[in-house]
Amino acid sequence: MKVLYASMETAPYSKVGGLGDVAKALPEALRRLGAEVTIITPWYSSLAGKFPELQRTQVVHSASLPLGDEQVPVIWKAPLDLPPDNRMVLVDEPRYLSRERPYSAGLDPARCSQEPHSSILFSKAIAEWVRNSGERYDIVHLNEHQTALAAAFLKAVPGAPPVLMTVHNFNHQGVYGPEALGLLGVSPEASYAGGPYEFFGQVNFLKAGLWHCDLITTVSKTYRQEVMSDHQFGLGLEGFLRSRAERFVGILNGIDQREWDSTSDPNITPHFSAQKLMGKRLVKARLMSEMKMAGDVQGAPLVASVVLRLVEQKGIDLILAVADRLMERDAMLIVMGEGRGDYSSSLNRLQTRYPGRCRAILRYEEPLAHRIIAGADIFLMPSRFEPCGLTQMYSMAYGTVPVVRRTGGLADTVIDAREFPREGTGFSFGKFNADEFWTAVSASLDAYKTPKIWRSIVRRAMHRTLNWETSAREYLDFYETLARRHKLAA
Ligand code: ADP
Ligand code: GLC
Repeated sequence: MKVLYASMETAPYSKVGGLGDVAKALPEALRRLGAEVTIITPWYSSLAGKFPELQRTQVVHSASLPLGDEQVPVIWKAPLDLPPDNRMVLVDEPRYLSRERPYSAGLDPARCSQEPHSSILFSKAIAEWVRNSGERYDIVHLNEHQTALAAAFLKAVPGAPPVLMTVHNFNHQGVYGPEALGLLGVSPEASYAGGPYEFFGQVNFLKAGLWHCDLITTVSKTYRQEVMSDHQFGLGLEGFLRSRAERFVGILNGIDQREWDSTSDPNITPHFSAQKLMGKRLVKARLMSEMKMAGDVQGAPLVASVVLRLVEQKGIDLILAVADRLMERDAMLIVMGEGRGDYSSSLNRLQTRYPGRCRAILRYEEPLAHRIIAGADIFLMPSRFEPCGLTQMYSMAYGTVPVVRRTGGLADTVIDAREFPREGTGFSFGKFNADEFWTAVSASLDAYKTPKIWRSIVRRAMHRTLNWETSAREYLDFYETLARRHKLAA
């Protein structure tokens, strides 16, 4: 099975959020199952001189791609120092694509909606590679609206393989004014109402991709239901998605056990496991002294929230709303993340108000993220919506009990211990408001006080670890079905 896997970001080189993790871990898991996967991703200027294995490259293709009235020269290069089965093609185009980081407006891809050029070029580069590289792929796997148009462009490539398209977040659809059609090279007639490009008088790149691909996937079963049934989630695409329901599936992400394993993680000492939980307390004590926090290691629960993107989606406002109540219950709080200025200043104020008990870490730091997730007792994730969410799964793997809102992947990965006392792996709540959130947080604090109950929740959470093998197997089955059908139709 030869797969071309396209993503705007990939860990560790260009990760912005969970997509970056997935674009590393899923191809690796597929390779372990025997698939031959090539990742196609842009070359970014910030990569120069940074990752030794990417520095020596060979030009494997070059071409000029049309973009509106322009002809844009593009180079495809392959790194020479990656392990042999770790195939990668880097698309290098300095004007629109190879910027410093994947999304020029910084951390929040939603804010870059004025920028269709890079998505069009990258999508054209994917289709051109399939057409002229000489490689014969069995499947092309696209991710997010930045690569979606490749599904449309591939329709014009004779013998092109079938296309599977994964949507990680329907909040980012790549919606632009009608002038984007000119850039695409699509005639205005193609934008008829109800057609692939038209979207309430605008042009929607994601819709065009979903229209032309053979199978749509998203990253949890509950999120799939949500985006088909509720405008808040589907943001205008819910009717279209319903019309494709039988070609639309939810496949949960897994966690990369090489990166997130409490028995071998190089970022923490000592290591611990569900059988040997003593080590976790020492990790907590170390974290508290690193964070200059005062408190009784055993008696005071350490509550944490770690988000890469401090954006509205993640429900930071609810955490701020219950912070005083948490302090009244003698808990300690660490929030880590980078993004919106107003959240950052509120978190800073909280830190000043509760010295030694509240910490705001407003920067991106992977090793510290591991130590916080490992050292905390309780993990907060009250997202407004959450397609899958990875950090709640990492927390469970480290015996840090999650308190989550019952939405998307959070609903599919955390079992509420109030509702199911014998199976519970965390705590969850329904309505997005501070009081419901607080009821769930407060139940977790109560449970923490009863060590026997707590230990059993912790152990169950650790055993529920969701690995990538199961998900990769599901993707592979779909690849095989699509490829088989494609051959029969040819
Ligand atoms: P999203 O993609 O919506 O931002 P996910 O939960 O899917 O959310 O993925 C977030 C990823 O970012 C996880 O790998 C998590 O460990 C990582 N992460 C979160 N916060 C930080 C941080 N402050 N520094 C480094 N990595 C972080
Ligand atoms: C998006 C979603 C997140 C998901 C990630 C990987 O960033 O916001 O919930 O885990 O993609 O699929």
